[in-house]
Amino acid sequence: MRMKMYLALALGLLSISLCINAKCDLTGQWQNDLGSNMTVYVDKNGLIVGKYRTAVSTTNKTILESPLVGYQQSSVLPTFGFTVMWQFTNVITVFTGQCFRNETGQVLQTTWLLREESSDAQHNWMQTRVGFNVFYQIP
Ligand code: BTN
Repeated sequence: MRMKMYLALALGLLSISLCINAKCDLTGQWQNDLGSNMTVYVDKNGLIVGKYRTAVSTTNKTILESPLVGYQQSSVLPTFGFTVMWQFTNVITVFTGQCFRNETGQVLQTTWLLREESSDAQHNWMQTRVGFNVFYQIP
């Protein structure tokens, strides 16, 4: 009986450790701390393609789902970068970050730069915003 308990415990610990040490992969559905959603596919070369629906906007325009493209490294906890070309405004956002694992699953820690268009080069200095988002995988 005690042997069976030890065996079950060992198997449990092994599966937790296998899960934590498994390769992070961006393929799947994600939601960030602002409530934005994205669906991503990563091919064998690390090319990322996907779509992004932001929950917030710098404009009053109707939010549209927008495409994203980028690259993911192939390491265990890979760094990545992708660009979202917004379909409802002349803004581009680039995200860069790293995929981590915790007890609940995969987490993406990102930093972004959002560039707004200006008709006047004098305004260049104030056209770029920076921020951070954490993405959690949707099962
Ligand atoms: C815009 O309204 O200017 C385009 C959409 C910008 C949404 C930004 S991108 C960074 C941040 N993270 C999100 O999920 N949404 C905002």
